[in-house]
Amino acid sequence: MKSCLAFLLVISISISSLSQVNPKNTQHDAAMNQYVSTLMQKMTLEEKIGQLNLPSIGFDVTGPVLSQGVEEKIRKGLVGGVFNTYTPIAVRKLQQLAVNETRLKIPLLFGYDVIHGHRTIFPIALGLSSSWDTALIERTARAAALEATADGLNWVFSPMVDIARDPRWGRVSEGAGEDPWLGSQIAKAMVKGYQGTDLSKDNAVLACVKHFALYGAGEAGRDYNTVDMSRIRMFNEYLLPYKAAVEAGVGSIMSSFNEIDGVPASGNKWLLTDLLRRQWGFRGLVVSDYTSINEMVNHGVGDEKKVGELSLNAGLDMDMVGEIFIRYGIDLVKSGRVAQTQVDAACRRILEAKYKLGLFQDPYRFVNEERPAREMMSADKLELSKEAAMKSMVLLKNAGQALPLQANKKIAFIGPLVKNQRDLIGSWSGAGDWKKAVSIWDALQQKFGADKFLYAKGCNLVQDSVLRKRLNDHDGQLTIDPMSPAQMIDQAVQTANQADVVVAVLGEAFGMTGEAASRSMIGLLENQLELLKALKNTGKPIVLVLMSGRPLTLEWENANCEAILETWFSGSQAGNAIASVLFGEYNPSGKLSMTFPRNTGQIPIYYNAKNTGRPIDPNNKYSTKYLDVPNTPLYPFGFGLSYTTFNYGEIQLSSASIKPGASITASVAVTNTGKFDGVETVQLYVRDMIGSISRPVKELRGFKKISLKVGESGTVHFKITVDDLKFFNADLKFVAEPGDFKLFIGGNSQDVKEIGFTLVK
Ligand code: BGC
Repeated sequence: MKSCLAFLLVISISISSLSQVNPKNTQHDAAMNQYVSTLMQKMTLEEKIGQLNLPSIGFDVTGPVLSQGVEEKIRKGLVGGVFNTYTPIAVRKLQQLAVNETRLKIPLLFGYDVIHGHRTIFPIALGLSSSWDTALIERTARAAALEATADGLNWVFSPMVDIARDPRWGRVSEGAGEDPWLGSQIAKAMVKGYQGTDLSKDNAVLACVKHFALYGAGEAGRDYNTVDMSRIRMFNEYLLPYKAAVEAGVGSIMSSFNEIDGVPASGNKWLLTDLLRRQWGFRGLVVSDYTSINEMVNHGVGDEKKVGELSLNAGLDMDMVGEIFIRYGIDLVKSGRVAQTQVDAACRRILEAKYKLGLFQDPYRFVNEERPAREMMSADKLELSKEAAMKSMVLLKNAGQALPLQANKKIAFIGPLVKNQRDLIGSWSGAGDWKKAVSIWDALQQKFGADKFLYAKGCNLVQDSVLRKRLNDHDGQLTIDPMSPAQMIDQAVQTANQADVVVAVLGEAFGMTGEAASRSMIGLLENQLELLKALKNTGKPIVLVLMSGRPLTLEWENANCEAILETWFSGSQAGNAIASVLFGEYNPSGKLSMTFPRNTGQIPIYYNAKNTGRPIDPNNKYSTKYLDVPNTPLYPFGFGLSYTTFNYGEIQLSSASIKPGASITASVAVTNTGKFDGVETVQLYVRDMIGSISRPVKELRGFKKISLKVGESGTVHFKITVDDLKFFNADLKFVAEPGDFKLFIGGNSQDVKEIGFTLVK
């Protein structure tokens, strides 16, 4: 091994940082170009194409194919990286094959779906986004990077930044919700957290923003479904978070499964070259999603060879699992259907990623058998997990101060999720160990001693046998209680009857969201609702603690429960965090990043909608509305209560007009008018009243957190510049148009103060 390292160190290079973000990168780029060019001169076409191959090997598969004979392919130089392999031992073994047994000794990339933590699991991404705390989210990504790199990984398939307005789509759990602006802030924070300031450090990983592009807009919320969207909507709404990640220096991008303008993303030259590289200046590598090149055959745009040609010519660099490139690449180049320069460019980008990660200096940079003991689930990370979980929870209702709970009352905890551990870590937590997640019940025992509270399971988490089987086929761990459903409800009712207050812990099983987990109805499962109705009939106040990976429809629950706390799937420390919030040690401050509809018929429903030519008018039949449900959601974007209350003063503007190049300041006084100290997320929205194209009724342009003690007031200031007023016009030019604007400030997107101002020429 020593001699091989000596070989790799022939060119000694100073790797200072990720080239896209560091201003000192010119020198670094020159050294990198020289190194990669020298290496590529030695490479055969087959070896170059080998670099474009990314098979899965190891513990986990998310699609229909597991790459065959990977070790042999590594030896032959037909593999550029692998994913789903981790732990220093496993990584070392494969890296040794590449470094010791291939002609050119090029090290491998090791990727993995580190989505919301690696070993220490944080709340699902939708939950994290509800914290509206980008510094916190960055810290979770940093912690995930520390654990991932300690496990031999150098590449994470995260962040997912797909804007999603359809909660039927199971993958809303993996993203930051519906808003382009909030999504962009979070995308940047995550890229920074993963990649750090210096990609060549042994604790930084290459981030991969996904799924490029528009994957969240699949028709009818069905996963992998067709997308069709105007360029105006793409540019003003859906593309912004990917662009923000590119601007933050993300090192890689994953193409999506869906089509854009009829051309699947993985073969879409407009998307991957014209937009991404030419317009946005992205210089990193593009990897396909899992067999998404092969799947272009099903899309109906050609046979396997043809789709390989389309992908290479579109500017896609790395083929995940599908092995189309290694099967057809040589032929495609030799027959002239793909230019050699196209393959060279793809190969170069992959080698550059390896260079930036410092792998040519030390292929074992991420393989240190001593690190796991130090890093994995360390006390500080568990503390961070609890903090993130508490800050992610959203209080949806709290009538009569039902929460916080008083421990001296008789409290019955009822529901299949009270003692549950399996579901707490949510989907995409592959390296997480659910057996290490703290259940609510365990946290309560720990905090208050054994048997302080009453308990009944009440119902099975999933009673429906078809759904249960589907979920259990993918490690759902769902069991059926020996008691019949009726007996369980009886027992729960008897338990509730002995209590002063009932805490019902209900929601989805983790597998009901995530990939390939769309639902057409997004309420509580029938058997759970039946339990809740029986509990309601006891006349006891009900606090509903929800776990879910998506917004749910909660009309009945909202009308019948005293309090509702959405906890998402909140990770390794879920139980401790939920207990702290329920008993008032932490005053909830989360705000929804995604609208909760009243029923599924309202979907898609989102706050930054257009006004239409016939805005809703209850007295006019011919206005935009339903006959059977209001237009408004049950809980709007940005909504979330606190145990205290906040009062907003009127907005003060430093000037009623703004000039190009200048800015104005909007200020608002916020007072804590309730009985608890608390944190409020103050939100700023704008509306362009008259535009050359119609503009949304509101768009988030800022938010600030303010921490206020009981009775305390504070003033929040927002600076608004002309850039905040810009949008992509009909020519896709990014412009601000002079005229009247409205500015709104409030604690959610619906309840706001407003004031007008003018943009002058
Ligand atoms: C998912 C990606 C994931 C990939 C690798 C795909 O099915 O869409 O999000 O990164 O698998 O596991």
